[in-house]
Amino acid sequence: MAAVKYINNDLHLESTPITQLAKAVGTPFYCYSSQILETNFADYKLHFGAEPNLICYAVKSNSNQAIISRLAALGAGADVVSEGELRRALLAGIPASKIVFSGVGKTAQEIEFALSQNILQFNVESEPELELINRLALDRGTRAPVAFRINPDIDADTHAKISTGKAGDKFGIPWADAEKSYAKAASLAGIHVQGVDMHIGSQLTNLDPLERALRRMATLTANLKTKGHTISVLDIGGGLGIPYDKGMSVPGIEDYAALTKKVLGPFNCRIIVEPGRSLVGEAGFLITRVTHVKECDHRNMLIVDAGMNDLIRPSFYDAYHEIIPVTLTHADEKSYQIVGPVCETADTFGRNRVIQTQTAGDLIAIKSAGAYGAVMSSTYNTRPLAAEILVEGDHFRIIRPRQSYDELIGLDSPDSPWQISS
Ligand SMILES: Cc1ncc(COP(=O)(O)O)c(C=O)c1O
Repeated sequence: MAAVKYINNDLHLESTPITQLAKAVGTPFYCYSSQILETNFADYKLHFGAEPNLICYAVKSNSNQAIISRLAALGAGADVVSEGELRRALLAGIPASKIVFSGVGKTAQEIEFALSQNILQFNVESEPELELINRLALDRGTRAPVAFRINPDIDADTHAKISTGKAGDKFGIPWADAEKSYAKAASLAGIHVQGVDMHIGSQLTNLDPLERALRRMATLTANLKTKGHTISVLDIGGGLGIPYDKGMSVPGIEDYAALTKKVLGPFNCRIIVEPGRSLVGEAGFLITRVTHVKECDHRNMLIVDAGMNDLIRPSFYDAYHEIIPVTLTHADEKSYQIVGPVCETADTFGRNRVIQTQTAGDLIAIKSAGAYGAVMSSTYNTRPLAAEILVEGDHFRIIRPRQSYDELIGLDSPDSPWQISS
């Protein structure tokens, strides 16, 4: 994308040299391009259509307030999966009337909070959850707006850890039980059934599984309507993939939207889509500095100062991220194992990566790290959470300062008073 380019051998995000960002906050840090984020959102808006359709940003993919509020200003709603995400979305300016609440394990406290805010929709994943929502809504003298998340039993053809729509996955109402669940919901005074929801998985790199799932959704919607249920909302979830590797191709937002309209358009329902990765993934970079170059077993180890605690995707999902130098200084190239400092062999960002020869102190950029990067970070090995920066043209804002050791270690309270347990 044009928002990322070398100018005078220095990698720039928009018009900002990444070396300047490193000077401002040290390393490692995440940086995000507003331009890429906004272009992706504009694409969704263009192809999925404006009101009443709604693009509910999957907050789990990157929950920094600055990212959410940027999308809020463009008209995004939010898909949240916890009270914490709901609070973040509200604080970032997304109105409750544009927020859907997904997730298999909503607690009574979370449901009560969501009811108190009058959110747009609960995406219900089981009958016990339905009963709990019904009871809590009745206690408040209200009716909860509900869609069932249906598990269409479709193989999403993605990594097993991010497949969510196969029978046996923990998500959603089993396909065979769907109509029974709607019949039950219709009998509950605290429930207002309004929609059908699904989400079959993430990093989907072809539209076939989505098409099969959408067709199942269409069949169910038609059956429900015949039986007298009023279905006004069809929530298709998220999941569109991004090209992590240069050679990889993924479907475009336009084709995804065209398919959705072709299959679901005849129902004249409000379409909700919940993208995360395809909005923010390519907007983000993890920048890290080479600490040591170590020759080991005839291999060159590039030991960098970011670790699996900062970006867990390669070790958790065997995910590939393209890695490039920040400054083009050396003409020759070498093959490297690019590893972090965490005491786990899994702390590896790339194997046999041929990039420009590196020396200690050089900066490298791990691409497409905007989604499921910072949000999945931890302080394992007592490593402070990395800083995050939002770039716009030649301006930048530190949208999360690096966590200090005092903040991190200060969370422990070793001197708290003993309490009697019985
Ligand atoms: C219910 C739900 N909606 C939307 C998303 C966003 O998915 P993606 O980031 O792949 O677009 C997820 C993530 O897996 C999800 O669980």
